[in-house]
Amino acid sequence: MSTSHLLLCFFVIFVARVISDPDPLQDYCVAAPQGAHTIFVNGAPCINPANAEPSHFTTSALSKSGNTAANPLGFNVTLTNIRNLPGMNTLGLTMARVDIAGNGLVPPHTHPRASEVTILVKGSLLVGFVDTTNRLFTQQLREGDSFVFPKGLIHFLYNLDSKAPALAISGLTSQNPGAQLASSATFTTKPSIPDDILKKAFQINGQDVSRIRKNLGG
Ligand SMILES: *[C@@H]1O[C@H](CO)[C@@H](O)[C@H](O)[C@H]1NC(C)=O
Repeated sequence: MSTSHLLLCFFVIFVARVISDPDPLQDYCVAAPQGAHTIFVNGAPCINPANAEPSHFTTSALSKSGNTAANPLGFNVTLTNIRNLPGMNTLGLTMARVDIAGNGLVPPHTHPRASEVTILVKGSLLVGFVDTTNRLFTQQLREGDSFVFPKGLIHFLYNLDSKAPALAISGLTSQNPGAQLASSATFTTKPSIPDDILKKAFQINGQDVSRIRKNLGG
């Protein structure tokens, strides 16, 4: 192997290390229930491994469909987390169940700490992400198709069918992926981003700002 190959190899290993949660130093770290915290770590502290049970590694959290009716955009995301699946603590992953009503939309958003792979279980979806050069990568998914959203990039999922609901299951490469909606992160922050900033950033007037805020429930 040449020096340049070796360097490339090290670089790839370095990048792979940077893009996922830290590796656990033990087989597992079943998350201790909240309230039991006397120390804080990057993640949740573990229970005594001798007290770990198979039930810590299983969940029915994704078995039931989320209610999409309450959301004006018609989507509902159900996540695994250290409360409903304590055995996933420190393992660097999360699963999500995404229910989307007819013509429902999971609006443009990012996960600052995770890449995401989605498999469309039911229905038809138009999905896409935007890279840092503002190039849009979009694809129409049929049942059984998968799509990946690279870490940190803005992406969306839209149900093309006006009636039939869609169901997608996602895997994310962090136990705490985080989610930031482009619309809420600009127009419904607390406290509000000053109007002058939004007017200039989006090249709109004060009435536009108020209307968008109101429409988004801000
Ligand atoms: C998502 O669905 C669950 C289960 O029906 C419901 O409890 C929750 O309120 C819904 N979330 C939103 C934001 O509508």
